[in-house]
Amino acid sequence: MKVDVLLGLQWGDEGKGKVVDVLTPEYDVITRFQGGPNAGHTLEFNSIKHVLHNIPSGIFHSDKMNIIGNGVVLDPISFKEEVDKLEAMGMDLTRNLMISKKAHLILPTHRILDAASEASKGKTKIGSTLKGIGPTYMDKTGRNGLRVGDILSDFDRKYNDLKKKHQQLLTIYDYEYNIAEFEKGLAEGIACLKKFTIIDSEHRINEYQRQEKSVLAEGAQGTLLDIDFGSYPFVTSSNTICAGACTGMGIAPNKIGEVYGIFKAYCTRVGSGPFPTELEDETGETLRKAGHEFGATTGRPRRCGWLDLVALKYAVMINGVTQLIMTKGDVLSKFKTIKVATAYKIDGVETREFPFELPGNMEPVYTELPGWNDDLTGMRSENEFPEELNSYIKFLEAELEVPITIVSVGPDREQTIVRE
Ligand code: GTP
Repeated sequence: MKVDVLLGLQWGDEGKGKVVDVLTPEYDVITRFQGGPNAGHTLEFNSIKHVLHNIPSGIFHSDKMNIIGNGVVLDPISFKEEVDKLEAMGMDLTRNLMISKKAHLILPTHRILDAASEASKGKTKIGSTLKGIGPTYMDKTGRNGLRVGDILSDFDRKYNDLKKKHQQLLTIYDYEYNIAEFEKGLAEGIACLKKFTIIDSEHRINEYQRQEKSVLAEGAQGTLLDIDFGSYPFVTSSNTICAGACTGMGIAPNKIGEVYGIFKAYCTRVGSGPFPTELEDETGETLRKAGHEFGATTGRPRRCGWLDLVALKYAVMINGVTQLIMTKGDVLSKFKTIKVATAYKIDGVETREFPFELPGNMEPVYTELPGWNDDLTGMRSENEFPEELNSYIKFLEAELEVPITIVSVGPDREQTIVRE
């Protein structure tokens, strides 16, 4: 049995949390393969909102196994906070959550390094979430990092050695910090991690495949934030694309099955960096308000704009998307007409290829389509879709050459329509 992958095709916040939660009943195992607590997957059911940062979204289904894979970076302190919240709801996570020995640990000094580095950048800040993700991945590739498996023996000595290195590094920054503040909760966090089954997850996941168990790998952030293919340097520190599922879980490329690519019917971006279709006007404000576009982790207002098909096609190509999932179509109900960028004009020349850089003088070339002006949130079948929404979907499918198999019309599990 193959591993299916679900990932974001834009700048994150496409609604992956909700969709994974909806798809989970079809799978035996849900995994995370990259990123860290900078992810903020929001799930809503029974009118309650749950935000997950480190833990896979299958956790709300007690009969599913959830695995934090080797490609993830895990902060013991924020992990414990998340576990505490879920346990307060009466859940026993130790039964259905396992953690890879090879996942790297975000340590208090990684968070200090993140803050010091970002503060030193002044106007060229990349918009880090300051959770220590970047420095942790740097230690991973720099071969300095500590992994979850390291907590099983002599952890204090290992941590103190690395802390000394980090303190030396920090002397290059003009940055004041109180290390005790950052270390608060570390011992409790490590103790909390030890409650869980810590495994060689690559063996376990491959074994699950041999046993014909179905696995869904849940991406975090989005393709345009990928360290290699995103809008560098305004990107995250990991491979958010489908290939990241192979390295972040230890599965071979030929074991990948369906690749679900999830996109919003418009675009948003948090933090700095180029955003070709950004609307810094009333239309953008309308999108932000109607879509509640404020970060799940940081509360920051998200930048909003029209759907960008140049970027989306690129994302479909890089990930080998086999099925598309469109979220938040309901938010566009506000508009009489809807714009979609089908090309970019750079120095007067039109291109449909996502370029190396997105220069400031670049203009999106738009196609304008009729809006549906109808409330979609109560619809439960595609037969109820207004004609204009069907045309919008058909237009996107023709451009992207991949079918849109699921349309989400609201945050709730129920508001999910599978197209025949
Ligand atoms: P990241 O991994 O951090 O990128 O998270 P994410 O992709 O899971 O997205 P996030 O949960 O941050 O944001 C999506 C928001 O949209 C959540 O509040 C969801 O409840 C909500 N949402 C998801 N689908 C829909 C939809 O179809 N319509 C509306 N109105 N809201 C939706």
